Amino acid sequence: MTNRVVVGAQWGDEGKAKITDLLAQKADLIIRYQGGCNAGHTVVANNKTFKFHLIPSGILYKGKMCFIGAGTVILPEAFETEVKELIADGVDVSGLKINPLASITMPYHTEIDGYSESTATKGKIGTTKKGIGPTYTDKMGRIGLKIEDLYSQDALSEKLDIILPLKNKMLKEVYGLEPYSKECLLALCEKYAEIFKPYVCFDWQTVLEDAKRDGKAVLFEGAQGVMLDVDYGTYPFVTSSNPIGGGAATGSGYGPTMIDEVIGVAKAYVTRVGEGPFVTELKDETGDKIREIGHEFGVTTGRPRRCGWFDAVTMKYSVLVGGLTSLALTKIDVFDSFDEIKLCTAYKDTRNGNIYKHYPTDVFIHKYLEPVYETHKGWTEDITKIKEYDKLPENAKKYLARLEELLEIPISIVSVGPDREQTIFK
Ligand code: GDP
Ligand code: IMO
Ligand code: MG
Repeated sequence: MTNRVVVGAQWGDEGKAKITDLLAQKADLIIRYQGGCNAGHTVVANNKTFKFHLIPSGILYKGKMCFIGAGTVILPEAFETEVKELIADGVDVSGLKINPLASITMPYHTEIDGYSESTATKGKIGTTKKGIGPTYTDKMGRIGLKIEDLYSQDALSEKLDIILPLKNKMLKEVYGLEPYSKECLLALCEKYAEIFKPYVCFDWQTVLEDAKRDGKAVLFEGAQGVMLDVDYGTYPFVTSSNPIGGGAATGSGYGPTMIDEVIGVAKAYVTRVGEGPFVTELKDETGDKIREIGHEFGVTTGRPRRCGWFDAVTMKYSVLVGGLTSLALTKIDVFDSFDEIKLCTAYKDTRNGNIYKHYPTDVFIHKYLEPVYETHKGWTEDITKIKEYDKLPENAKKYLARLEELLEIPISIVSVGPDREQTIFK
């Protein structure tokens, strides 16, 4: 059995959920390892569109165990809504489990996120306002609440006594927000305990041990993307977790020795939501055309996504730090009506003419960089019904071969449409 990680290789929204759903067919256990409801994951199957935020995209197959891992942060109300919607859609959620070590997003986390975003002038990140940054901040600061605390009176009471004086001082004096009483938070936690109760897997160690012993196939599902990784992304314009392949080792409950393959998902172009550098961004009609054909609007916030040409400089970096072993290239069909397609192979520094072949991690110099492009001929035909690699137009195959050459990694999957069926396994 092969254990695989699905990683976003760009700035998120690469089509990870489509690939996770496909690979979940062959997995027994699917574990979402980081992030929270900042994620917006779309699966199109059986003429229906499903949108996930926290729940693993493998849930559509009956009988699969789907874990929300310890590395995630969970906004209780968002979880409750998502589960209800899936049940209303007739999805069987009996395989859904939550690792009790996952962190809880409290109301003050979303308030602080909202406040920071709305008052920031310089340094605005353009977050999803789901409380992600403040929840991970408290986790790392060792003042966070975990799902298991909801079922331990001692843990909850003792932790709140530590957290509240600090948190209230900050809420009042730094953010000008209302403080919380212990009674109020205890009542909230009681409600949360009820919401999560059917899904919390207290014997997760046994479950994971058994799955390992029985040679079950594990699929690790990442959210966001390598360029949004808190350690390796375009910091500070990133999310607050580790979407890279290594994140699966810390956020799932299994270690790195359980991972056989890391599949990076990338679009045939690049998109980004929110602020931050983006060297190949197109602020012209070509960018608008990509957005329109690719329906590039955020699943979680509805914001228009910034669009640009494929960037082999960041992708090569992504292959390295993401630990990618192969690539799933999605949305290549978006180029069906394009006469020409550009591909960025290097950056040029407009101040001195220096050429960067490797990704410069100081994002504050990105404003001086311009992309060095090579231009490829388009195929100008509909490829959305093609099922075999050999049947792809010659120019499409040339473009894919060039990507493999530049990135030094094989493309294992080519996606030519949003539906499960519109996929070519190479
Ligand atoms: P994720 O966050 O990485 O799972 O991606 P999103 O769901 O946010 O965005 C990807 C969008 O592209 C969704 O609307 C998918 O249905 C759609 N999509 C995925 N693969 C393809 C593809 O190959 N072609 C086209 N045209 N759309 C795709
Ligand atoms: P999926 O899993 C695209 C971006 C936000 C913002 C930055 C920080 O669907 O690919 P956060 O709310 O995480 O503190 O915001 O990260 N961002 C995403 N962009 N896809 C996502 O998820 C994202 N999740 C967060 O727009 O720039
Ligand atoms: Mg998304």
